[in-house]
Amino acid sequence: MSGNFLVLLASLSALFVVSKLWRARMEMAKLEGIPTVGSSGFWGSFWGGYHFVKHAREVVKEGYDKYHGRAFKVRMPYRWVIIATGPDLVNDIKRAPDDMMSFDEAVNDDIQVDHTLGKTFRTSNYHFNVVRSTLTRNLSVRFSDVRDEILTAFSDEIPVSEDWITLPALDTIMKVVCRTTNRLFVGLPMCREPDWIDLNIQFTVQVFGRAPIINLFPGFLQPIVGSLLSPRANALKRARRHIGNVVRERVEKDDQYGRGWADKPNDLISWLLEENPRGELRTVDELIMRVLNINMAAIHTTSMSFSQILYWLAIQSDSVINELRKEIESVTEEHGWTKASMGYLRKVDSFMKEVARYTGISELTAERKVLKDFTFSDGTRVPAGSIVSIPVFAMHHDERHYDNPNQFKPFRFSEMRDSEEGGSIKHQMITPNQDYFFFGTGRHACPGRFFAVNELKTLVAHTLLTYDIKLEGDAKVIPDPVLFLNAVSPNQDAKLMFRKRRV
Ligand code: HEM
Ligand SMILES: *[C@@H]1O[C@H](CO)[C@@H](O)[C@H](O)[C@H]1NC(C)=O
Repeated sequence: MSGNFLVLLASLSALFVVSKLWRARMEMAKLEGIPTVGSSGFWGSFWGGYHFVKHAREVVKEGYDKYHGRAFKVRMPYRWVIIATGPDLVNDIKRAPDDMMSFDEAVNDDIQVDHTLGKTFRTSNYHFNVVRSTLTRNLSVRFSDVRDEILTAFSDEIPVSEDWITLPALDTIMKVVCRTTNRLFVGLPMCREPDWIDLNIQFTVQVFGRAPIINLFPGFLQPIVGSLLSPRANALKRARRHIGNVVRERVEKDDQYGRGWADKPNDLISWLLEENPRGELRTVDELIMRVLNINMAAIHTTSMSFSQILYWLAIQSDSVINELRKEIESVTEEHGWTKASMGYLRKVDSFMKEVARYTGISELTAERKVLKDFTFSDGTRVPAGSIVSIPVFAMHHDERHYDNPNQFKPFRFSEMRDSEEGGSIKHQMITPNQDYFFFGTGRHACPGRFFAVNELKTLVAHTLLTYDIKLEGDAKVIPDPVLFLNAVSPNQDAKLMFRKRRV
């Protein structure tokens, strides 16, 4: 290696460190008025960022208890996050318009959209609307396909046997969920293609793994580092092999015949085209990237939720399991297997929602980037450029929001639905409200939640009617979740045991 190159490398690293420190210092000065959990000193805050990696839950809880009704800040490894507590401040975030607090810009900070997904994702997120509207409205007609995929995926991955079989929970579930989800998105035979499944599982991991590394570099180096580390080109190449031709044909037919033509498949590619993307958004690669991005939002979230639900089911008493089974049997005997009949499963919904509340998938939700200086309703001022968020886990475990919040009550929500006036809609898993933030809040609340909950219920119903399940070694406690930064993931190593249902 030549001396010149080493000098260049050393200068770049020095520049890199200095620019990081400088940026952190500027940022800190602007946030001085907001109380801090942990040290806000210059070096202390670096330690704080490191500490947050493994201790986010305690750090957030400390601030939540100490500053309830106000906002406080905590240090994450590469930035500060301002956490809003109490109904008024939470409402401020929920209600702020996009040009004041931006979901897209917060996501962009986290995953470096330009480098991981492509610059067009900064111009338009029309595909979010497609999920919210066309996809959701088509769930009824596509329900039987989704259910069929659940049946085949289970019989491939979890054979029904008289003796207990032991399987790694998360791996197995990921495959089942990816297949099922893609039966809706791209249909047969693609949803069963192992490389397509692997690509979609891996792409998410790569985006979330590499973006923080790109983030560590100062702005002027990010384009270079970004293009070196971007998983986009590779993912696209792989995806083109699978759905390139299908997408191309679909665009050609859409150009030629417009919306309605005989035998047009009713899938995500058609739903995207129905939104009529124009210009640079109407290329094959562009459409493929939208499909990959929707998979990114769907697969890991749904898999993690289903894993946690199964862990919780595995440790329930016979009486809880019987109650759930009885409900599923009576509903499906009366109404069959349809999207609507899954809506009648109140106890199943309650159980799943209680898992979402009790375990969840994140400490924080509704991250927004403040675009214009903002004053919260308690007078706390946050400067443009800050990231704000809502402490979902702390709220879901707060007596102000739930009776006995640290107790897992399988039928907490079905009882509330039955006993409260207007409770029937309010306490469903899909409905965000001032006590429940699993799917975020406001305009950006997850547009995929109608599908996610319907799919999860169908998965749970099939599991309970087909198998007995337990944890390996008959364990009666939930395997510890993995806490990393603000993410809460199901235990990766736990094994589930299945056998043919006996009673
Ligand atoms: C149990 C599974 C899921 C969970 C827990 C979940 C959770 C979330 C959360 C918390 C947000 C951000 C909301 C906010 O900041 O206020 C979100 C956004 C989003 N989710 Fe989901 N999600 C799930 C499944 C899905 C599925 C299946 C799809 C697609 C079919 C999907 C598509 C999206 C999209 C496109 C956004 C961005 C919405 C926007 O900015 O307007 N999600 N999701
Ligand atoms: C289902 O999707 C098709 C496009 O494939 C669309 O034309 C139709 O309006 C959707 N159905 C509903 C009920 O929205």
